[in-house]
Amino acid sequence: MNTVRESDVDQAALWNGGAGLAWVEAQELLDRLFTPFEKLLVEAVRARSGLRVLDVGCGTGSTTLAVARSLGANGRCVGVDISEPMIAAARARAERQQILASFVCADAQSHAFAPASVDTIISRFGVMFFDDSVRAFANLRRAARDGAQLQLVAWRSPAENPFMTAAERAVAAAGWSLIGQVRAAGATTVLLAEASVDGMCRPWDYQGFVFVKGRFAGTLSPALMDARTDGALSVARLLSPTEVEVVFVRYVDADPLCCPSRLSTVRYRIERRRQGPTVVPYAVETTSASN
Ligand SMILES: C[S@@+](CC[C@H](N)C(=O)[O-])C[C@H]1O[C@@H](n2cnc3c(N)ncnc32)[C@H](O)[C@@H]1O
Repeated sequence: MNTVRESDVDQAALWNGGAGLAWVEAQELLDRLFTPFEKLLVEAVRARSGLRVLDVGCGTGSTTLAVARSLGANGRCVGVDISEPMIAAARARAERQQILASFVCADAQSHAFAPASVDTIISRFGVMFFDDSVRAFANLRRAARDGAQLQLVAWRSPAENPFMTAAERAVAAAGWSLIGQVRAAGATTVLLAEASVDGMCRPWDYQGFVFVKGRFAGTLSPALMDARTDGALSVARLLSPTEVEVVFVRYVDADPLCCPSRLSTVRYRIERRRQGPTVVPYAVETTSASN
């Protein structure tokens, strides 16, 4: 199966775009879901004497704030995250709850942390997205004093977390081959799959599928598509858990095979209907491909 999850793409763009916004929107739910992991980290910090804590990939800050609360006025808990919307949400929470924690918007792999300034590094699902784990952990090691502790909660591989790949498995089980990246935001997954390829290995009979919580919500094209013919899907973007944007190439008879003269951009909403999640196109704009 040719599956590349979003973890293999530009993480800064991902977490500053749809995924970050989805996480902010679903903050309350996710925090409730992950409370047991947060408690483990708070207890691990409390069991040690150090008062300087760094929370890596802190997101909207729940764990950072819980640790800061538990350390009290003498402690210092700093959250670092690559996502501006998530850091903004974390800062707003700290202010609302009047908790003394600070937040840095930076890439933990390369940020110049003060050397040996941390007693404990913690993370709740925030260290699994590095492009270069060795560089990232070497950088975190420089931030830690000798004898510091590292306490991480991390998922294992996608194969060991079947709920993460329900959509891909459903499509593959129906005989399709996945193509390109699987896009995921919140509980929504968008993926492309082909039934066959042409003589130049371009998708032949391909389709875009949308799933919500592993449940089929609809296709992105009303009919199967062939690469290089009118109406072929060229770009699919998952803007948020409830919004998808797709660019289709548009050919007229005079266009050469390589060069469609127009592009149609279609927007879809994913609506919650009685029969289940449903993909609904609601806007289309057609422009010249040379723009
Ligand atoms: C699954 S979320 C977990 C968020 C938070 N720890 C929680 O439990 O709610 C992963 C977080 O890691 C952050 N992240 C990914 N790559 C990062 C990097 N290189 N440096 C800092 N943060 C990163 C993302 O922006 C996101 O907030």
